[in-house]
Amino acid sequence: MTAKRATAEVIVMSSAEQATDEAAALFKQAISHAVADRRVCNVALAGGTTPHDLYQKLADDVYDCDVPWASVNVFFGDERDVPHDHVDSNYHMAQRALLDHAPIPPEQINPMPADAEDLAAAAAEYEQIIRRIVPGEPIPQFDLILLGMGGDGHTASLFPRTDALSESRKLVVSHHVPVLGRNRMTFTCPLINAARHVMFLITGEDKADAVAAVLGDDKRARKEIPAAQVNPSDGKLTIVLDVAAARKTDLKPATE
Ligand code: 6PG
Repeated sequence: MTAKRATAEVIVMSSAEQATDEAAALFKQAISHAVADRRVCNVALAGGTTPHDLYQKLADDVYDCDVPWASVNVFFGDERDVPHDHVDSNYHMAQRALLDHAPIPPEQINPMPADAEDLAAAAAEYEQIIRRIVPGEPIPQFDLILLGMGGDGHTASLFPRTDALSESRKLVVSHHVPVLGRNRMTFTCPLINAARHVMFLITGEDKADAVAAVLGDDKRARKEIPAAQVNPSDGKLTIVLDVAAARKTDLKPATE
């Protein structure tokens, strides 16, 4: 099976820990480059469990490296319909692992209001906040969007066979996810694909089938996979994997 995403830089590391270290290095680099070029870096964080160790690694390095954290605006690519102090909240996870430790001014941290009464209004309001802070026309251009991927190929909260996946006008939507029986708020493909840099961090055996489909050449299979719709129109796509996640491709760690 030959890797198909010509635009994607696919990096395979020998372990989940090494993949996390690699993603941390690329994350810091993206911040430094954006601030050097544009004096500010607009970042969207991912949720789930995989990025937790990445955020902790960044927090551990906060004072060892000269990343201009004070010039970073933080957003979230998706959120669960729970309060921000709830254990399932992506904001809560990122806050404890990174945001409480990095010198980012609190007013530059923008949690996603996914537990609002009126979710559609809250999603539209979050889109307006992004349009106000993140430059770029007609679509704001994030400097870095971090994404994970589920075993079914969902990314952010774009799940297979949901309307949010084909949204072409709104940049942030809230929708009911039947497979979860819950609501989620999420960036849509137009916003994700306008970014200067999108980086996936994907580890673990349970992601191997979806990774193979995303990197494979079966167009029909790829059409069903939300993560395969991520293809920045004028930006970079980096896919950081561990060997377990890359197991069903012919990709090997650079060291091997
Ligand atoms: C979320 C995420 C979601 C996540 C995948 C993978 O809110 O859950 O944003 O898209 O990246 O579900 O989750 P794990 O990292 O836990 O496998």
